[in-house]
Amino acid sequence: MSIFDQRNLRKLVGCPDIAIDLGTANTRLYATGYGMIADEPSMVSLAQETGAIAAVGREAERLATFGNDFTPVYPLNSGVVSDIDAAASLLRHLLERLNWPGILRPRAIACVPTDACEDERQSLIEATQRAGASAVFLVPEPLAAAIGAGLEISSPYAQMLVDIGDGVTDIAVIRSGQLVTTAAVRTACSDLHVAISDIVARRYGISLFPHEAQRLTHRLGSPLEMAGEQWFFAEGIDQNSTRHVKLRVSSLDLAEAIEPVLKIIIEAIHQTVRDLPPETSCEVIEGGICLTGGGANLRGICQRLSLATSLDVHTAPDPMRAVINGARQMLAVGAETNLWQHVAWQ
Ligand SMILES: Nc1ncnc2c1ncn2[C@@H]1O[C@H](COP(=O)(O)OP(=O)(O)OP(=O)(O)O)[C@@H](O)[C@H]1O
Ligand SMILES: [Mg+2]
Repeated sequence: MSIFDQRNLRKLVGCPDIAIDLGTANTRLYATGYGMIADEPSMVSLAQETGAIAAVGREAERLATFGNDFTPVYPLNSGVVSDIDAAASLLRHLLERLNWPGILRPRAIACVPTDACEDERQSLIEATQRAGASAVFLVPEPLAAAIGAGLEISSPYAQMLVDIGDGVTDIAVIRSGQLVTTAAVRTACSDLHVAISDIVARRYGISLFPHEAQRLTHRLGSPLEMAGEQWFFAEGIDQNSTRHVKLRVSSLDLAEAIEPVLKIIIEAIHQTVRDLPPETSCEVIEGGICLTGGGANLRGICQRLSLATSLDVHTAPDPMRAVINGARQMLAVGAETNLWQHVAWQ
């Protein structure tokens, strides 16, 4: 069948196209004609006895927290697919919610970090195809985020966007619809959680329960300078007695732990700003930096970044959904321009 016939047939049968933001912590899927079909943890739960998939997404997280007979599997690491089987299972189970009878298979736009290497890009394509997509077009995450954040990406004046996710911080300068500069570091919110778990284990002798480090990170934020010591409650396992304990953790310890991680993120952004050619730099000063991703919610992060870069820094509306919102807008353009014509069809 010619591509022209395919396009008409797709329209005729109402075959959905899919936007995919497969993130280290969260997976978000949007399907044309259906809306958002998933916004859930990027997680698969395997039954320990059989190794079979017991659940994916939110249900997998629930099983990992409350069930003993399940092994959690995380398909992504540092923003890219590290386990193709698990990523394909996660996507396939979430896409089954469409109940699409499968006359034609959906086409997909999937978002990928700008620094992903060829193998990492191929893994994302393979997982998406194995989940049921007929063709996959990859788009750079910060470009989708910029569209989702409402930036006028076709503007001839350069604009800067930084997406701080769970596994990767992706930085881009966009002018006339093109990425003119990109930089990424595989350091993001999950490293803040690890730093907090580590210091609590070292200084208090307690292994925090899952999610406690994340909760403490959200409470702490990104302090500019500590306005006195605060105490936060947390729960975990005493490493000596192996008993369940509640403890009080000092904000000074937590701030000390996350500081090196924050420095890596801030320095990567600062370096990118410093390296811009003078003309681009002047244009970026106008619009400042737009922040997306879960890290944009970190209290005080805008002030920290603003101090470091001397730029105005603002958070996008609904920052955690900026990437998927941008990708879903691209689907509409994709259908009109037949975006998928140059990618391999299965
Ligand atoms: N209020 C908050 N304060 C601090 N961190 C937050 C807050 N809200 C969310 N986060 C963090 O944001 C991260 C998830 O963000 P997001 O969904 O953008 O990541 P992701 O897209 O899955 O990851 P990546 O794009 O790096 O692959 C989590 O680590 C979460 O703890
Ligand atoms: Mg992301």
